[in-house]
Amino acid sequence: MSDRYQEFASSPVGRILVKNLGLPRPTPLTRHVEGAPLVTGTVLVGGTGRLADTLPALLTGLDVHAVTEPPEDERLRGLVFDATGLTSSTQLGALRDFFAPRLRGLTTNPRVVVLGTPPDQVRGPERVAQRALEGFTRSLGKEIGQGGTVQLVQVAPGAEDKVASTLAFLLSPKSAYVSGQVVRIGTHGTSEVTVDQVADPDRPLAGKVALVTGASRGIGEAIARVLHRDGARVVGLDVPQAASELQSVMDELDGDWLVLDITAPDAPQRIAHELRERHGGVDVVVHNAGITRDKRLANMSEDRWDSVIAVNLTAPERITRELLDQGVLNAGGSIVGVASIAGIAGNVGQTNYAASKAGVIGLVDSLADEVAERGDAITINAVAPGFIITQMTAAVPFATREVGQRLNAMAQGGLPVDVAETIAWYAHPGSRAVNGNVVRVCGQMMLGA
Ligand SMILES: NC(=O)c1ccc[n+]([C@@H]2O[C@H](COP(=O)([O-])OP(=O)(O)OC[C@H]3O[C@@H](n4cnc5c(N)ncnc54)[C@H](O)[C@@H]3O)[C@@H](O)[C@H]2O)c1
Repeated sequence: MSDRYQEFASSPVGRILVKNLGLPRPTPLTRHVEGAPLVTGTVLVGGTGRLADTLPALLTGLDVHAVTEPPEDERLRGLVFDATGLTSSTQLGALRDFFAPRLRGLTTNPRVVVLGTPPDQVRGPERVAQRALEGFTRSLGKEIGQGGTVQLVQVAPGAEDKVASTLAFLLSPKSAYVSGQVVRIGTHGTSEVTVDQVADPDRPLAGKVALVTGASRGIGEAIARVLHRDGARVVGLDVPQAASELQSVMDELDGDWLVLDITAPDAPQRIAHELRERHGGVDVVVHNAGITRDKRLANMSEDRWDSVIAVNLTAPERITRELLDQGVLNAGGSIVGVASIAGIAGNVGQTNYAASKAGVIGLVDSLADEVAERGDAITINAVAPGFIITQMTAAVPFATREVGQRLNAMAQGGLPVDVAETIAWYAHPGSRAVNGNVVRVCGQMMLGA
């Protein structure tokens, strides 16, 4: 499914028209290509704080060309600024001093990461300064243009050595449609089992089993493909009506399939049984299956309400509970919910859907501490996609779809792979301290920002 406006805006005639009419000019986003280096170009590191000393070596370890002095005659791919040393508002000028002179010297699709401390873990003027970083990064995300992304990564004291997988994701094209986000590392307890080094960086999920619900098409299919690329054996699940599509995707990925309706009363038990008996457990669980049944609340039938809550929220709750209680989720495992921007900002005609998706965020909140306390490095996080180009959004009327696609800092819709790459970062063995996060994959949508 293509973005016709973006194609038109990139054509010779389109470029002139778009410029003269002051229309949005989406910059084509580069995505990760299998086998390509994670980050091409040079990343400048600056700032002072808990991470500044170790950052250059950490980035070099990721095969990123990191420098502490700006090179002459070379555009920079990325800027990483350690702001954990900012303890008062009077020091915030360091942000301007570092970033302002560099912003005109960036490549297209540049990457900016500011490292901070979770404000609730410090007091007084330091908390004020650390909270200020959020406004800074979100605004720079809206200014940077050229398909660039800007994030704030809040690193809990003691989690300084657990940032590698997150920096690798945020500096690479894998995070093409993720911008203006605040990621927290180590805030929900770090766990005993931490696997920071993986044998094969290109296949970090080798030997792992991943369950993906709703895997026959759209975002679920992309998630299955990316987790397979990263080495996982994928078990795709979908409803009986989608069995043949599911089977052909899973055949291609050398995976396994499970045909059932996740709202069936015995679905959690059947899933747990299948995963235990055929695969010896599961390492990654992605609750992707979802439906919309839009109507304004005044016209909302009981059936529309109930079916959306049942598929999008109650089923993930029940399945997660069963897998945790039965010990089917292996140590170091990841649970990932698929929420939606609608669950954050709300949407006309979607009281049922938005309630279900806000509930998915509630599921993450309610379980993040519980899984951290188990001490077996299980994590739970969610993605909240914005406008992603799939069959679900193809059904949206043309005018609404056009506006929906442009209302973000990148002036374009995202692709299913953008959601999938974010999930693969959560699932990465190096992300065991990334727990309790909700990251929007929305090109920094103006709604609910
Ligand atoms: N496309 C977007 O822009 C967007 C935005 C925000 C959130 N999301 C969420 O992302 C997820 C995937 O969306 P998509 O656009 O790929 O949708 P899609 O309709 O293309 O795919 C959803 C899949 O879930 C399966 N499914 C539905 N009910 C099921 C059930 N009871 N049991 C098992 N499987 C079931 C469907 O058969 C289908 O294969 C959903 O949770 C959706 O709410 C999508």
